[in-house]
Amino acid sequence: MRILFIGDIVGSVGRKAVKACLPGLKSKLNPTFIIANGENAAAGRGITSAIVKELFEMGVHGITMGNHTWDQKEIFDFIDDEERMVRPANFPKGTPGRGFTTIKVKDQELVIINVQGRTFLPPLDCPFEKVDTILDSVKKKNKYVLVDFHAEATSEKLAMGWHLDGRVSAVVGTHTHVQTHDERILPQGTAYVTDVGMVGPRDGILGMERGAVLQKFKTQLPVRFVVDEGKWHFHAVCIDLDPATGLGKKIQLIRMEEDQFIID
Ligand SMILES: [Fe+2]
Ligand SMILES: [Fe+2]
Repeated sequence: MRILFIGDIVGSVGRKAVKACLPGLKSKLNPTFIIANGENAAAGRGITSAIVKELFEMGVHGITMGNHTWDQKEIFDFIDDEERMVRPANFPKGTPGRGFTTIKVKDQELVIINVQGRTFLPPLDCPFEKVDTILDSVKKKNKYVLVDFHAEATSEKLAMGWHLDGRVSAVVGTHTHVQTHDERILPQGTAYVTDVGMVGPRDGILGMERGAVLQKFKTQLPVRFVVDEGKWHFHAVCIDLDPATGLGKKIQLIRMEEDQFIID
């Protein structure tokens, strides 16, 4: 049982990178499930139904979101009907969409849960309590559970890893767009990484055109950010799970660059 989890896909450059990388990764790694974070897939802000379709056609099986979930108005037209997509579960009751779902591929099932951190992000419900409640309902039926913890603070993500160690297959962090080198199997068997990274323009700042970001830092005046153009990088993790326990056996970082695009 193998999961390929792709970090935040940023804009058209990010989607181009997924298209370029996935065929080779699929034949080399043969993942059972391909899950991607899509919160920045539409010009850096949210996702559209056309892009959801495009990602599924590329071979993605499930999409997680984050604080940018609501940035495209049309999200409200399709989020309730798209069962293969999750937004942070700890939004208030009654929020459109779903916070967890079961992805089915052939005869295998994977539960994906999306929760959002509360440190340096808007004050949602407690992500720790929320994930416990969800696990109460899904763990009886499903042994493979992946949590995308969309959070800013490394400490909050580590806290979630330890909170869930031994109780879920994997906790992967998203949102900061910078891949961390702390991938490991925690002592009770949960595969963990603080941040998977991003897929998109590599010479911008977190995928955005760097001149505007620099101007913002230097002047502190309002600046409009746009997705950078140019060459991509592709960050993901490959997670192997033990069919006997549903827990992690191995987690491996993947980093690819547009002009060093080699799969051996
Ligand atoms: Fe993001
Ligand atoms: Fe985010």
